[in-house]
Amino acid sequence: MSKKTTNHLASCNNTINGCIEVPGDKSITHRAIIISSIADGKTQINRYLNSKDINATIDACRQIDAEIEENNKTLIIKGNNLERIESKDIELNFGNSGTSMRLMMGVLSAQKFSSTLVGDESLNQRPMNRVTNPLVKMNANIKSSNGTAPIYISPVNEIRNVDQIVNIASAQIKSSIMLAGLYGRNTFSITTPQSRDHTEIMLNEFGCNITLESKSIRVIPNKLTSPNKIDIPGDISSAAFFIVGSIISDDSRLRIENVGLNPLRTGFIDILIMMGAKIEMTDLKEVNGEVVGNINIESSKLKGIKIPKDLIARSIDELPLIILAASQADGVTSLRNAEELRVKESDRISSMAIMMERFNISIDEFSDGMNIYGGTIKGNRVNSYGDHRIAMTALLASLVSDGDITVEDTLNIDTSFPDFIEIANSIGMDINIYD
Ligand code: S3P
Repeated sequence: MSKKTTNHLASCNNTINGCIEVPGDKSITHRAIIISSIADGKTQINRYLNSKDINATIDACRQIDAEIEENNKTLIIKGNNLERIESKDIELNFGNSGTSMRLMMGVLSAQKFSSTLVGDESLNQRPMNRVTNPLVKMNANIKSSNGTAPIYISPVNEIRNVDQIVNIASAQIKSSIMLAGLYGRNTFSITTPQSRDHTEIMLNEFGCNITLESKSIRVIPNKLTSPNKIDIPGDISSAAFFIVGSIISDDSRLRIENVGLNPLRTGFIDILIMMGAKIEMTDLKEVNGEVVGNINIESSKLKGIKIPKDLIARSIDELPLIILAASQADGVTSLRNAEELRVKESDRISSMAIMMERFNISIDEFSDGMNIYGGTIKGNRVNSYGDHRIAMTALLASLVSDGDITVEDTLNIDTSFPDFIEIANSIGMDINIYD
């Protein structure tokens, strides 16, 4: 069977202008769906992200008897009140979505049926033992070969909560533990470096008692009560493409409204400001526990910097874009301590190193990052390596390239940002399907 692929051509065009909104936040949408599905009551989720990764989470939640109605930009979910569901054994395909597979592992570990979890070629290669090991410590019955999918989960009598230390800064690991722990009886803690805290915030919205004590998250498991309505903010990781696009291109001025500005997601803005970018966040307010606001951005002259280690976890998904921005900065930018990039939807250090070389930008590659030397991007044909963020970063480079850019294998953009090309073209870019 031949695999369906698409390519896109981005014609060079060096300015963007306008006022936009971006679709709902992917991380928060996953959590809103999963937590509504195991809560008591009905939840209306407004402005959810309608993308392939989110569909994987919806499919999985239907298997635990959540009733999910989809209409246009809203989901209505009737949850199962943390009931441990009895059903026939199932196989679930999570496609490309690491967040769906890892978070749902926590929930599926507590059910009374067996499940087999698989993904696409990329997801089946990503490390899962970082999640299965802590869940096994909680008495979950999970098996895999070599710590990757397929993952086999069998029912257990009970989930037993224990205090855990997780050394990787990963929201997916701690979230999976928290979700499994809701089915256990005892209070437990997770001691782990900081990473995005959307699960903690969402669980609090559903009345769960979660506190942060120094470096530990303490969870008192209890039933979850629907707050009736959750409004999802725009995805800062999607906005990031146009933020970087405006900064590196000429005479650009862009406003992005209603974006999630959770401080554990805005590390890339801190990095860009250190490099000299003109970015302003305004009209901040709190919606369902999350900070939301508007962002104004202008073309800026950038200088190379050494990216501080403490900003890496807070900007992990935007580091490919930081590499692109660094290629347009005066001098050298050093990105280190980012070894987690090697286990994303592609090995993003390698994908970006190859892209930069094809764009004629000099780099030094290291196991945990790279040095990027500012220069002029030469238009060329590049590959996304099956990775949505690499595909979109490459297309964005047409704002500064000295020739058109063709990106191979762009279908994956649908996993996180199906409207990317439409929004990009509405503010002045020129991206089209190309065979
Ligand atoms: C995510 C957490 C991050 C991030 C991913 C989404 C989440 O992964 O890279 O795109 O929604 O929890 P890790 O938890 O593996 O760092």
